[in-house]
Amino acid sequence: MTTERAMVELPPHVLEYLSAQRTLTLATASLAGVPRASTFLYVNDGPTLYFWSRPQTTTARHIEQNPTVSFAVDDFASDLRQTKGVQGSGECSVLLSGEEIARVADLFGRKFPDLSPGNTMSISFFRVAPIELEFIDNSGEGASAPGGTFGAEFHRERSYSVFENLPAFDTDTITGQLQPSTADAGDVIAREGGPADKFFVLVEGEVELVRGGAVLATLGPGAFFGEMAIMRDVPRSASVRATKPSKLLAMERDAFRDVMAQALGTTAEFDKVIRDRLGPLESGV
Ligand code: CMP
Repeated sequence: MTTERAMVELPPHVLEYLSAQRTLTLATASLAGVPRASTFLYVNDGPTLYFWSRPQTTTARHIEQNPTVSFAVDDFASDLRQTKGVQGSGECSVLLSGEEIARVADLFGRKFPDLSPGNTMSISFFRVAPIELEFIDNSGEGASAPGGTFGAEFHRERSYSVFENLPAFDTDTITGQLQPSTADAGDVIAREGGPADKFFVLVEGEVELVRGGAVLATLGPGAFFGEMAIMRDVPRSASVRATKPSKLLAMERDAFRDVMAQALGTTAEFDKVIRDRLGPLESGV
């Protein structure tokens, strides 16, 4: 059995930066597209960020309507060469499991020992699962701008992306076509022999591929599936079942085909992925 995993770990210097910072500015939008930016204390567990808010705030309402968020973590430096920060986008959801709430409350207690725990019954904890995350660091070599120059270049590096494993897509093009969805452990996301209706990218959680009752592979964050049936115009080659609570991005079949038709070379790259994947399938491993 194979396990596919994308770049799910942040580089140590980015983790270190996230652990050292205290506040996160979160941008949300209502369903009608009305934006809102607010700043929160946060903790992180790897790339996953957590914050708390009162349930009746605009931010909480937006997240309920529209889980897509973007975020920035930064500290002000009057010398632009000292500028560092993290920017990203992701999916946000309220924590419902008592166990996870207790774990996150404990992370807050450790990071902010001076904050008294208060009454956690009157607040909601939220999780941001990043889709993409960039680290901005102007302090390194090549940061040519003199301190304080307006219009200076910012040096950014892509530190995390659930699209990392995807063949050469312009991620801005596909992000607009992707709809967030969730699955609970045990949910069947695609059924063997079923129609090729959607293409999926797994953002958080884990799924297993089942063919004829046998588990073929487990896929982790950053993995994608559902491309075979769409590209080859055949029924689903395997069932895909969530083994953990999972967050996904789904693209309708026609949108997937359109995006592929526009991106030069992508079809060939997907073909190679499919051939590699069919190897173990066809040999029945
Ligand atoms: P599709 O056939 O549309 O639906 C099931 C999906 O499981 C399939 O597309 C692939 O995306 C995925 N899949 C099938 N076999 C493998 C494999 N051996 N390794 C990884 N993914 C696979």
